[in-house]
Amino acid sequence: MAVDDTGVRDQLVEAFLAADGPISGEELSHRLGLSRTAVWKQVKALEQVGFEFEASPRVGYRAIRIPDELMAPLVRPHLPPECLLGSPILWAASRASTNDTALELAAKGLPHGGVVTAGEQTGGRGRRDRAWASPRGGMWFTVFVRNPCALRHAPDLTLLAALGVCRALRVEGVPAQIKWPNDLLLNGKKIGGILAQIRAEGELVDHAVIGIGLNANFSIEALPADIRHRATTILHEMGTPIHRAKVLARILTQLDALYRDLQDGRGFQAVHAEWTALCSTVGQEVEVAMGEERLRGIARSIEPDGSLVLETSPGVTRTVVSGEVLFSAREQV
Ligand code: BTN
Repeated sequence: MAVDDTGVRDQLVEAFLAADGPISGEELSHRLGLSRTAVWKQVKALEQVGFEFEASPRVGYRAIRIPDELMAPLVRPHLPPECLLGSPILWAASRASTNDTALELAAKGLPHGGVVTAGEQTGGRGRRDRAWASPRGGMWFTVFVRNPCALRHAPDLTLLAALGVCRALRVEGVPAQIKWPNDLLLNGKKIGGILAQIRAEGELVDHAVIGIGLNANFSIEALPADIRHRATTILHEMGTPIHRAKVLARILTQLDALYRDLQDGRGFQAVHAEWTALCSTVGQEVEVAMGEERLRGIARSIEPDGSLVLETSPGVTRTVVSGEVLFSAREQV
């Protein structure tokens, strides 16, 4: 797989977006350097993924429906020019896992800031080797970063990603919260998660893939029945879909700023207060899984390094550096 094999399709979408009327097949074939038949095939491929065209003989094609997919030409107009994340954005209608594709492309020279997106995932992966349901309508993407931080700050990558997503959703009017360390909640139920994979060289993180999944615009019936009591979708909670391409641009803009600060040595500590304010875990009775070990107690605080302080019995605390909150007694998450 080449690092950017989406070029022709994206150019075609750009041409339709820029056009204020129909474009002839001849014009498109000239601009794209393709035969008329190849252009026609590309148009048909776009129809398969939700585009609709009006085709008039001798006049050409006009796009009459452009779907909200996480494709470069649809996301980029919402990105500020200074944002280093989002180039390239590699969309496919279906991938096994955007993290897997990003890891493959990392070995082939994917640059810092490359983003791999998918309309659906057939082998989406969650933390602790769990499957991650990824139907159409969700936001499934992986951000690739090179030399993001020292190895000891690797946990910051996910903590900051959770904050970036939370901020972006809030700007869009979705009052998301964070469940320590990196789940996204809405109305107390999970709407998203983050799976970061890093490759370290000595004391430094050489590169990282930050996989982010958001249950955006699909019905909760598309989630596995056994998680519906604790997971939901933004569409279900808010009653209206979000503009996924715009939300992705907002998330990338937030992550870009947070990761630049991290590279400059200002990691989680700099956003500790904001993060804690958005975290629903503090004050809750929770059970935390750390490998095989389970700890129960009341989440008392988040430390400036991102660890969780748990009061396991009156006056006795344990600091948990990494783990997963299995449930909270009050929220049933
Ligand atoms: C979790 O268990 O909470 C983490 C879920 C992470 C899912 C995302 S979707 C995009 C990326 N690709 C994957 O296969 N997983 C992550």
